[in-house]
This record gives sequence, structure tokens and C-alpha cells, in this order.
Amino acid sequence: MLNRLEAIQASAEAELAAVTNEVELQAWKVRHLGRSAPLGEVLDGLRSLAKDERPAVGKRSNEVKARLEAAFGARQEVLEARDLQRSLLEDRLDVTLPGRPPAAGRLHPATQTLRQIFAIWAEMGFQIYRSPDVESDEFNFELLNIPAHHPARDMWDTFYTTTPGVLLRTHTSPGQIRVMRERAPEPIRVILPGMCYRYEQTDASHEAQFNQVEGLAVGAGITFADLKGTLTSFARRMFGDQVRTRFRADHFPFTEPSADMSVECFLCGGQGCGVCKQTGWLEILGCGMVHPTVLRNGGYDPERFSGFAFGMGTERITMLKHRIDDIRAFWANDLRFLEQF
Ligand code: PHE
Repeated sequence: MLNRLEAIQASAEAELAAVTNEVELQAWKVRHLGRSAPLGEVLDGLRSLAKDERPAVGKRSNEVKARLEAAFGARQEVLEARDLQRSLLEDRLDVTLPGRPPAAGRLHPATQTLRQIFAIWAEMGFQIYRSPDVESDEFNFELLNIPAHHPARDMWDTFYTTTPGVLLRTHTSPGQIRVMRERAPEPIRVILPGMCYRYEQTDASHEAQFNQVEGLAVGAGITFADLKGTLTSFARRMFGDQVRTRFRADHFPFTEPSADMSVECFLCGGQGCGVCKQTGWLEILGCGMVHPTVLRNGGYDPERFSGFAFGMGTERITMLKHRIDDIRAFWANDLRFLEQF
């Protein structure tokens, strides 16, 4: 019986040496350490042995069992180490590489400029008022003193809908009438930001949609000096304390008198450069004193009230600030552009 145990051990060890993978290893375990393994049979047969033989055979059986179990564990370790080594070599995982940082979102450059503008007007006591993108002909034109024959009402400038008299606002000025009708006869100090739409042939400086920020102040005794002072203060907060402003006569049907405001070119400091086209000035908004007809349309008596209004294109300001040379970049959603801000 002791010889039989020696043979069992020898053959099991020989087989184990030939095992090359996990599947074979598990099969070996079943064959040599499982319930119906030869070793198990010896242990089961102990009872039928002569009494004086039993201790020696029992002891030896347990030794063989322990030995085979240890051999199994050792072989398993060798195989695992070999597999790990192979996958390290084959997969060439460089654990010293830095991780990839998650891409952080950011605000669109147009939004960044808008928020800056909102904050400045808020400091100066102007509330934000929203008015609809889809407007009526009446609010977008008629009530703003833009008569039916005015060139701005051309099919080629305005997106008309299939519903007669309904269009996409071409500017934020119709919001002036809406606030006035809501607030009259209270004094008003609001800005009206929003997207505007024009039926344009798009190119580097024309887009079919763009943001404007309209402003409106109405009250007793508001003068053109208030307009100039307020807008100059805005320009200084936006572009720096030293910046100079220039007002020139302009024309809008809904303001009288009308003007446009330029700021000293903040890229060349007024010396003249490509961005300001060698003039030293950048025009950033249209403005004027609210036309008496418009005040009346809003529910204010032009004999007792006056006001000023302005409208600025915020993409243009963003373009100037960041030297962006194509307005189409704003809504093209090209990440290479957006990720720069
Ligand atoms: N609505 C004008 C435009 O779109 C800007 C403007 C607003 C001018 C208010 C004067 C007063 O160009």
C-alpha cells in the first residue's frame, strides 16, 4: 500500500509538471485531489487494512495529500505569474502615463460677453427684460415709426413667417414698446437682450442671427447728456477706465436725434490698426433719444416724459475683443474655436 502511495504521488507530480494553463490545472485537481482520485480511494480503504498497517498508511496518505496540495498551489502561482508577465509585455500598458483629464465644459464666448454686459448694466441699475423672438410686424416696425415703405422692411432683410404680419424680430427694439406698455407711466431703466434675425447672405461679417442688447431709460427730464454720460460710463466699465468715446450723428426712425457711439480702439490705443481700419475708433452701438411717436405708442406723454435708447451687437464686441475675424464661427459649433475661450 505504501508503494501504491509512492506511485500515486510520482504520477501526479509528473502530470502536474506538464500542465500549462488554468484549465488543465483545474482538471488535474479534480483528477488527483477530487473525491474519486486514487488517493481518495486509499483513504477510503484504510478501514479494511490490518490494524498495525493503518497508522503508517494513514500518515503517508496525508503527507502525499499535503504535498500534492502544496504542489498545486505552487504550480498555480507560477502559471499566474507567467500570464501576468505575458499580458504586461503584450499590452504594453505604460502606468507612468498621466491620466486623461475629463473635458471641462465652458461658457460660449457670446454668453461670456453677454454676462459681462448684464453685470455692468445691473451695477448701473438696469433690469433685464425679455421680449419675444417671434414678433409682429406692428411691434418690430409700425410702432417704432418704421413705415411700410421703409427699406428695412424689404423681403431681403426680414424673415417673414407664413402667417401674415408675423416675423422674426430684426432687432431688439420692439421690446421697447412692450416694456413701456407694461410700465407706463412709471420710469423705466431696462436692458433687453436677445437674438435677432436677418435674411442675410452670410459672410465673414454678416450672420442670419446675432445677439443684441437693447437699452431703454424713460422718465421725466432725461436728456441727451444722460445718454452720453451713461453710455460712456458703460464703455469705461467694459473696456477700461481710460477709454474714450465718440458720438456721431446717425439716423434711426425710432430715435430723434440719433447717434452712434464708438470707443477708442482698445487694440491699438487709438493709433490706428487693421482692426479699426486705421481710424483709431470702433463703432459699437446705435442710440438716440426715444422718438415722441414711439413714446406715445408706448403710453407715455412726450410732453412730460423723455428717454434714451441704445442697441449694441454683442458678437461684434466679442470679435473685437478676441480678434475673431469671422462672425460665422459663433454658431458653427466647431470645438476647436469654442475651446479657446
Ligand atoms: N435697433 C437698432 C439696430 O438694430 C439699434 C438701435 C437701438 C438704435 C436703439 C437706436 C436705439 O441697428
